[in-house]
Amino acid sequence: MNPNHLTKQVLFKKIQKEFIGLDTTYTLATGKTSRRIYLDSTATTLMMKPAFDVVSSFLHHYANTHSLLHFGAKISTCEYNWAHNRILSFVGADEKSYTCFFTGSGTTAGINRMARVFRDIRPEKKIAIVSIMEHHSNDLPHRKHMEKVIHVPVVKQNGKLGCVCLKTLEQILKENFGKINYVALTGISNVTGIINPINKAAEIAHKYDALLLVDGAQLAAHVPIRMVNPDNPAQNIDALIFSGHKTYMPGSPGVVVAKKNLLSQIEPEEVGGGMVEEVFVDHYIVKDTYPDREEAGTPNIPGAIGLATAIDVLDRIGMDFLQKEEEELIRLALEGMQKIPSITIYGEPNQDICKRIASISFNINGLDHGLTAAVLNDYFNIAVRNECFCAHPYVKEMIMDDLLELIEGVDMNDIEEVFHLKRGMVRASFALYSTKEDVYALIDTVNSIANNKEFYKSMYHVNVDGNYEHNIFKFDHSGDFSVESCIAQLLD
Ligand SMILES: Cc1ncc(COP(=O)(O)O)c(C=O)c1O
Repeated sequence: MNPNHLTKQVLFKKIQKEFIGLDTTYTLATGKTSRRIYLDSTATTLMMKPAFDVVSSFLHHYANTHSLLHFGAKISTCEYNWAHNRILSFVGADEKSYTCFFTGSGTTAGINRMARVFRDIRPEKKIAIVSIMEHHSNDLPHRKHMEKVIHVPVVKQNGKLGCVCLKTLEQILKENFGKINYVALTGISNVTGIINPINKAAEIAHKYDALLLVDGAQLAAHVPIRMVNPDNPAQNIDALIFSGHKTYMPGSPGVVVAKKNLLSQIEPEEVGGGMVEEVFVDHYIVKDTYPDREEAGTPNIPGAIGLATAIDVLDRIGMDFLQKEEEELIRLALEGMQKIPSITIYGEPNQDICKRIASISFNINGLDHGLTAAVLNDYFNIAVRNECFCAHPYVKEMIMDDLLELIEGVDMNDIEEVFHLKRGMVRASFALYSTKEDVYALIDTVNSIANNKEFYKSMYHVNVDGNYEHNIFKFDHSGDFSVESCIAQLLD
């Protein structure tokens, strides 16, 4: 075995166990207490303990980066700068052409920001293209900030949806030549885990003088990112945005990595302390240094340092290595789930046709998504997400045929309620800390639920909020955690 591979394997196995929340237990509807299996990493990931530990150490020196001369301020400024540079090298962006800045608490703030920047630097180009598979956070900002958005479809093969259709993308760009400002594309779908060819999309966009914005919310924790292709600069990405809380550091900011020559064309979107050189009563002079000019106000310094630590650890293991490990988990999950009778898996399930990672969305036929998710939690301690995952157009496209069949003959007055209960999927999602055992537990459990549908249906009712609720079991978390009891214990 390659010795380099062995080191990565050893480090991976060590880090895999070092996440806060992997040992958490809850008491279930059966009265049994068991360890939670966390399969909701696409929504947010658990915290990497080394990152938490580094931040705890850093807090002894914590100070504002805008203070200059005392020891804590010097340490904070130096390490905060390190965080920016660490992220730039993680995504393969050179410091000369790109800057990294932090904004908001996730991807949403950064996408809104860059949509406004692109609008303002190229006001004559009024159209943005987004794919149909986008999270609302990479669709609505463009609808709001641009004059028009065109949705590009995904490839459809044998009735299964795959990645974004590059052919149609090119056709739209050609037909609207001169009018398209930018293409906004997710790196990985948060519904199906399907991976998009972002560098190829960049090349096509650039051919027609459009920019490429990548929603990297699901990329950063799972696959290598190459902002720059030195052999083919047309494939370079203009702006990448991702969330720290989806990259093993809850409480950290959102990240934007963007080309400086684009940002420098206008005054920064946000103004305030820290981004100005000098202020007079009648005018002010904006700094020309990055990232300062893009970060008005006191930043989330501990969050950024924690996130860059998590990223440093990921890089030490190697993103190529991690992608292979996670692809193997998805392969196991897809193979096992497809063997369960009466289950629908959404999106192209063949990884040779379409690369996937991190998320699988499915339904047990004849069982509402909300009921499946509730049973997985209440009886088996498997945490998943259900409904439409903030990707309504994409989810609707995949389930519309099933939905029309289901609502046949339903009274028009009941249609909204039926839609709410039926319109959606169950999503199981994985991350670095997910194991084969987690995948096997999911497959066995889904199989068992599919074989006992009538029993589970009889144990639940739909409550006034339209959610499935167990007839007897009521979850009371006061014995598990409450802020007030924690404070009381600490102060006792
Ligand atoms: C693909 C994708 N884009 C954008 C977002 C929004 O991210 P945030 O909630 O961190 O702003 C998410 C969140 O789930 C996502 O999965």
